[in-house]
Amino acid sequence: MNDLPKLSKILEKYLQDNTFPTRPRELYAPCRYILEIGGKRIRPALLLMGYELFDHQIRRALPAAAAIELFHNFTLMHDDIMDAAPLRRGQPTVHAKYNLNTGILSGDVMLIFAYQFLTNFRDKKIALDLVRIFNRVAAEVCEGQQMDINFETADEVTIPEYLKMIELKTAVLLGGALELGAVCAKATRADSKHLYHFGRLAGIAFQIMDDFLDTFGDPATFGKQVGGDIIQNKKTLLVLKTLEIADKHDQRELAKLLATSPADPTEKIEAVKNIFTKNDLPEIIRLEQNKFQDEAFHHLDAVAVADEKKEVLRQTVLGLFVREK
Ligand code: IPE
Ligand code: IPE
Ligand code: MG
Ligand code: MG
Ligand code: MG
Repeated sequence: MNDLPKLSKILEKYLQDNTFPTRPRELYAPCRYILEIGGKRIRPALLLMGYELFDHQIRRALPAAAAIELFHNFTLMHDDIMDAAPLRRGQPTVHAKYNLNTGILSGDVMLIFAYQFLTNFRDKKIALDLVRIFNRVAAEVCEGQQMDINFETADEVTIPEYLKMIELKTAVLLGGALELGAVCAKATRADSKHLYHFGRLAGIAFQIMDDFLDTFGDPATFGKQVGGDIIQNKKTLLVLKTLEIADKHDQRELAKLLATSPADPTEKIEAVKNIFTKNDLPEIIRLEQNKFQDEAFHHLDAVAVADEKKEVLRQTVLGLFVREK
């Protein structure tokens, strides 16, 4: 099986060979921009690895791999508007570099090109299955994004509600990537579903880690504004666990801080971070993340393919949990 760097390279070539039109420049230049400034390309890599478990002709799965990366980048463009984020992949976000309308419309057209790629899949009967899976996942991502926004101003958010939210906004797309790969290769329904759940559970752990890095990441490597979730009053697992385990004083302090939106957020970020650190949240979060990781790998184990064939996929997903960006 090809590894992540190799698959990224194959995908990059495919995207270059099938790039956006040049005009109107204002519409398509931002699409090229967001793809060119980086990204781990984990979703298309998962799709292709899911495919490669069952078939070696990965070229056939490239339209679906391109579709999922374009869909992901569309969600990022709109997510950055919703989260008022200044930085993405170490560079200005699309709406910050260009303007708000560009972020909206260039995002929209990327979504349309994602579907265009899907319909390019050679076997048209499978293409319809791919669209159905894609539709299911895409609607779930929107549902999760809405919950995320609702939670910013909600007084009480429970941990199960948070977990559902991250499952929808992030995890189902990682699961969907693997499922799409398996379906492209005509895997059995049982194997496709085990791969879906592998990606879904790993995706929950992935988003828990993203929340952790948003506060505790290194600004030099993270590529996004560290402290962004605190500025936006996001109800991350860091917040919800603190509200559960900290003493009354810290609970009140945190709740008070997360009800403010100061023009200069520096002190607020420091204060919230100190409460997290004092209450051992980095360690608590790590344990929570590990639970989902462990559960995820049981599903990979259950896929009816020789263990050696799964090794690259296993290592790639493990690699996601030692990431710095
Ligand atoms: C960012 O996804 C959005 C989340 C779901 C946390 P990635 O961390 O995969 O972003 P890129 O594509 O590598 O930039
Ligand atoms: C993003 O969650 C999920 C989607 C983009 C759909 P975040 O808002 O945490 O992602 P980042 O941190 O901006 O990448
Ligand atoms: Mg965001
Ligand atoms: Mg967001
Ligand atoms: Mg985040």
